[in-house]
Amino acid sequence: MGRKISSSSSVLLLFLLSWSACSVSSGADTLSPNRPLLDDGTTALVSAGGSFRLGFFSPDGSTNRYVGIWYNNISIQTVVWVANRRQPITTISGNLSLTTNGTLIITGEDNSTAIWSSGSPASALENPVARILDDGNFVVQEASSNGNDDPNSFAWQSFDFPTDTLLPGMAVGQKQLRTGVILDINLTAWKSPTDPSPGQYAFGLDVRGDPQIFIWTETQPYWRGGPWNGRWFSGVPEVKDGTDGVINFYVEKDHTTYLPINGSSTIVRWTMNSSGHLELLVWIEARWSVSWYIPKDHCDRMSQCGNNSYCSSNNSPPCTCLPAFHPTNQHNWDMLDGGDGCIRTTPLDCRNKTDGFFTQSGTKLPDTSRSTVLANLSLEECKALCLNNCSCTAYAALNISGSGCLIWTDDLTDITVYQSGLGQDLYVRLAAKDLVLASQALHHHSNRKIIMIVVLPVAILFLACVAYSIWRWKKRSSHIDYEAEEKDMELPLFDLNTIKDATDDFSIDNKLGEGGFGPVYKGKLGEEQEIAVKRLSKTSTQGVDEFKNEITLIAKLQHRNLVKLLGCCIQGGERLLIYEYLSNGSLDTFLFDEVQTVLLDWRARYNIILGVARGLLYLHHDSRLRIIHRDLKASNILLDKDMNPKISDFGMARIFGGDESESTTKRVVGTYGYMSPEYVMDGIFSIKSDVFSFGVLMLEIISGKKNRDYGQSMSQLNLLGNMWIMWKEGKSLDLVDTNFSHSFFENDVLRCIKVGLLCVQEQPGDRPTMSSVLAMLVSTDNISLLPEPKQPGFFSTRLSSVNSDYSNTESLSINQASITAIAGR
Ligand SMILES: *[C@@H]1O[C@H](CO)[C@@H](O)[C@H](O)[C@H]1NC(C)=O
Ligand SMILES: *[C@@H]1O[C@H](CO)[C@@H](O)[C@H](O)[C@H]1NC(C)=O
Ligand SMILES: *[C@@H]1O[C@H](CO)[C@@H](O)[C@H](O)[C@H]1NC(C)=O
Ligand SMILES: *[C@@H]1O[C@H](CO)[C@@H](O)[C@H](O)[C@H]1NC(C)=O
Ligand SMILES: *[C@@H]1O[C@H](CO)[C@@H](O)[C@H](O)[C@H]1NC(C)=O
Ligand SMILES: *[C@@H]1O[C@H](CO)[C@@H](O)[C@H](O)[C@H]1NC(C)=O
Ligand SMILES: *[C@@H]1O[C@H](CO)[C@@H](O)[C@H](O)[C@H]1NC(C)=O
Repeated sequence: MGRKISSSSSVLLLFLLSWSACSVSSGADTLSPNRPLLDDGTTALVSAGGSFRLGFFSPDGSTNRYVGIWYNNISIQTVVWVANRRQPITTISGNLSLTTNGTLIITGEDNSTAIWSSGSPASALENPVARILDDGNFVVQEASSNGNDDPNSFAWQSFDFPTDTLLPGMAVGQKQLRTGVILDINLTAWKSPTDPSPGQYAFGLDVRGDPQIFIWTETQPYWRGGPWNGRWFSGVPEVKDGTDGVINFYVEKDHTTYLPINGSSTIVRWTMNSSGHLELLVWIEARWSVSWYIPKDHCDRMSQCGNNSYCSSNNSPPCTCLPAFHPTNQHNWDMLDGGDGCIRTTPLDCRNKTDGFFTQSGTKLPDTSRSTVLANLSLEECKALCLNNCSCTAYAALNISGSGCLIWTDDLTDITVYQSGLGQDLYVRLAAKDLVLASQALHHHSNRKIIMIVVLPVAILFLACVAYSIWRWKKRSSHIDYEAEEKDMELPLFDLNTIKDATDDFSIDNKLGEGGFGPVYKGKLGEEQEIAVKRLSKTSTQGVDEFKNEITLIAKLQHRNLVKLLGCCIQGGERLLIYEYLSNGSLDTFLFDEVQTVLLDWRARYNIILGVARGLLYLHHDSRLRIIHRDLKASNILLDKDMNPKISDFGMARIFGGDESESTTKRVVGTYGYMSPEYVMDGIFSIKSDVFSFGVLMLEIISGKKNRDYGQSMSQLNLLGNMWIMWKEGKSLDLVDTNFSHSFFENDVLRCIKVGLLCVQEQPGDRPTMSSVLAMLVSTDNISLLPEPKQPGFFSTRLSSVNSDYSNTESLSINQASITAIAGR
């Protein structure tokens, strides 16, 4: 009898077991212990109101399986949360289950070890269930609190562990759980659109000082949204509270600081995307449209202009020192390299209490992570407090309404000045003497442009030649001391007959090629000197007063790695430029020619790289002018009979003179494939854009391939992209030109590749200057001591081919050349 009972109860037990071992069916919204979600390719939980779905999925372009949450009613699968983003399952074998104490676990092929777990809840639950809610939150709670959406009833919720997306109701920031544990809640971008594993970019709240929103890249600040001023984040005036879907800021009592998104009638989400943008997306007309994103321009990148200066995207150059501050490194500043920032002209005089404040209006307030917040002070009290504290450097109102007090006691960084008038007033402490200067500067600035920029075609050089020859003629005829004149004269004037003799009366046999402004001829002066003569067909009639200085300056550019301008000739309607002749022509005719390329062995290539680097260093730092070439490329490198490189064509060069300098960048001129991203996209050029072009040139010299043509036969990546990927995989030697033997020089080749990759990094600030490029090239240190290159700018061919669609005609006319002169005030 007893036996019988026992057997029947075991049947019952078996029945119960088999019942409980079955998995959830599609469409349910809950998971309970012993009722796991098994991956069969389709089964998923659906929230009660039908808005969200939770299940196993594979991202587009991948076969890996992840547990995620996506919209149920949106045709494009849009994943908003991923559980096992670091540990994908490689086959359709996953099992998401809830343990009896309320822990969610995922197992894969190896069903005995959990690859992901939600961690054990603070207190074990008696009868747990996991439920996908209609706002996209996946929660674990007591079954008895069924349907209760009060966050206090959640033992665990996915909203506390976001992936890359914020949904209405979610928040980023620092949150203290009831257990006392403090959670940092950040968004972390996917590595790429096909790979949900944590990528480079993160978005969140920095709660130090006056809390601010940030985008970090590998934990370094990349974009700063500024502090909350009561209505908006100081750095994002265009997104105010009360707007649908906008991030709102509040500080909760129990040491929890976080910012949720406003509730919304539309379907909205914030996503930190894999290319480093925080996007606000709205689902309209069956597609996601980007209603706002950040960062937008150059000035949005953290601390572009260094300390005590501000960035304004409408200005060129974008960096300006705060009034009465001056550049720490004037030279670099003039070269539009603003990173060194600015320093105070006169030290503060705190003890005598003579300091005052200059009002810089329209700002995104400086970094507040180390500033002091005094919410109860008025602006007047704030000013007094700052004046009395010798370490105070600036103050501002905490709220846009004018109440509260923010005090800075260190250098002011990452200030942006908006043209829109939406920025805030910042009161910068200055010494009494500087205060006068600052107000004068303000007055001066509004009255006239400090620097005039004149862009002229090179033909005008000839007008200058005319002016110069008249000047010389006048001097001669007035019998002014000949010696003094000779000393002054830097650029010789040639007689037309001399040039006619030299070129055999411009015979067709001597023609070397055709430039935009006219043909170029080879000639011979006397027995020895070979020359190249550029014959301009016509000249501009626009008048300019005095160009002697300009010509003299250009003639002074003397370096063995620069092509030398020997003189000019203006006579009988002819306008000629006379250069030294280089017998081997341009580098591209060797590098990209199947036959010629074998003539370039490694030593020759290395010599060319070093020579070009030296020439460029001279232009950037050593010459009496400061010059950005802007069109460095293989066809602009000429080779002499010994294959020594000389940089030619300064047609696009920008010359900076005087103490102050400014430049206009309305026309982006140059050659695609060699131009840096910030130049192409924002028109910003600096020595670092030349460094980028130099890097491209180096990699071309090493690989024997053109950057621009590279990808067509191979992958989506261009030469830069491929080099970088192969470098990271340790296989970059595979891309080296097979036309020269590099086996004996592997180390040198690798060094050049690494330096080349450092030069083409996306961020101008990451790129080395030409002096460090040279230092790295000739260094005998181990290559591993050089910094690791980051992602290059423009590494896919798709990008560069898009750009070539509007390839500027200007870039075709490099030979006709234009000169930019900066006339001092
Ligand atoms: C799923 O995982 C749970 C917990 O590890 C386990 O009890 C259950 O047997 C698994 N189911 C299958 C079908 O592997
Ligand atoms: C794991 O899978 C094996 C083979 O499918 C099965 O025999 C075993 O019972 C499973 N274990 C669990 C804990 O599900
Ligand atoms: C809950 O269950 C998991 C998995 O079985 C275990 O690792 C964890 O220690 C348990 N936690 C508590 C509080 O019992
Ligand atoms: C995450 O957020 C916290 C503040 O909530 C912040 O201090 C921390 O640096 C962030 N972590 C990363 C990796 O960005
Ligand atoms: C990231 O957002 C920016 C701005 O909306 C957009 O241009 C870019 O294509 C996005 N990248 C990805 C991978 O979605
Ligand atoms: C401040 O006061 C000291 C002594 O009283 C004096 O030597 C100094 O010149 C004063 N500085 C200024 C800027 O007035
Ligand atoms: C000046 O202000 C800073 C920041 O509020 C504070 O730490 C420091 O103690 C103050 N110094 C004096 C002398 O009050």
